[in-house]
Amino acid sequence: MKIAIAGKGGVGKTIISALLVRELIEHGKGPILVIDADPNANLNIPLGIDYNGTIADIVEELKTRARSGISKVDILKMEFQNIITEEENFDFLVMGAPEGPGCYCAVNDILREILNQFSRNYPYVIFDAEAGLEHLSRKTAGELDLLILVSEPSLSSLHTLLRAKNIADKTGLTVKEFLHIINKVRGELSPDILDFMFKNQLLPFLTLPFSENLLEVYERGENIFEFWDGNFLKKFAIIVKEKILKNGGGK
Ligand SMILES: Nc1ncnc2c1ncn2[C@@H]1O[C@H](COP(=O)(O)OP(=O)(O)OP(=O)(O)O)[C@@H](O)[C@H]1O
Ligand SMILES: [Mg+2]
Repeated sequence: MKIAIAGKGGVGKTIISALLVRELIEHGKGPILVIDADPNANLNIPLGIDYNGTIADIVEELKTRARSGISKVDILKMEFQNIITEEENFDFLVMGAPEGPGCYCAVNDILREILNQFSRNYPYVIFDAEAGLEHLSRKTAGELDLLILVSEPSLSSLHTLLRAKNIADKTGLTVKEFLHIINKVRGELSPDILDFMFKNQLLPFLTLPFSENLLEVYERGENIFEFWDGNFLKKFAIIVKEKILKNGGGK
């Protein structure tokens, strides 16, 4: 099951990706392939790990070794072992940013190769993406089983979410199911926001509460496995149970 988490900067994509990894592991659903697809990579911090290299590094390696006679696939296999971080229940990959301005084509090509060759070994693949969804075209990610679009409880943030959804449509990315999460909710959602969700068919949507404890864990650079806000975790567990575990993926 391929799941991507996207949305505007700072809405909580990385935290939600890390929590998803934690929750799936708690249900014995490893090994999970976790891909930090944000050029501003930092998912390793809440996962409590370091990493050695990025897919963008492989692109550079391929350029410099192109004439060495080794096939592209062999270089890819060798380098893949160097940049993947293997943990007990999940493996971690970082896309990285391309050298020079703009084009993600080469990085995307390598990601596609990696997904084609290796993703079969994992019941779940999780992408921490970014609002532009550059990495997640139909060409790279193929088909997504679930696209989680995250927003804060404000109309400006929801407008961005709507744009991200339209971008997903335009990239031709096949998304089997959408889930909209309004994160950092204090109290009830305002009627304006509810109205916006229904009018724009941003359904189904679920909310996650603002958690002081979560903010502290993150700001202290601690990992998500040390986060214990029972109220928040209970809500998160329901999302995972209803939207992910129910739809299969793995054992
Ligand atoms: N439910 C929540 N309650 C309190 N704080 C939260 C919650 N969710 C996220 N945050 C805080 O919001 C900030 C941004 O979270 P995070 O880095 O996960 O967002 P992001 O969307 O990945 O951002 P970026 O676009 O920079 O990658 C962090 O300080 C995090 O602790
Ligand atoms: Mg992030």
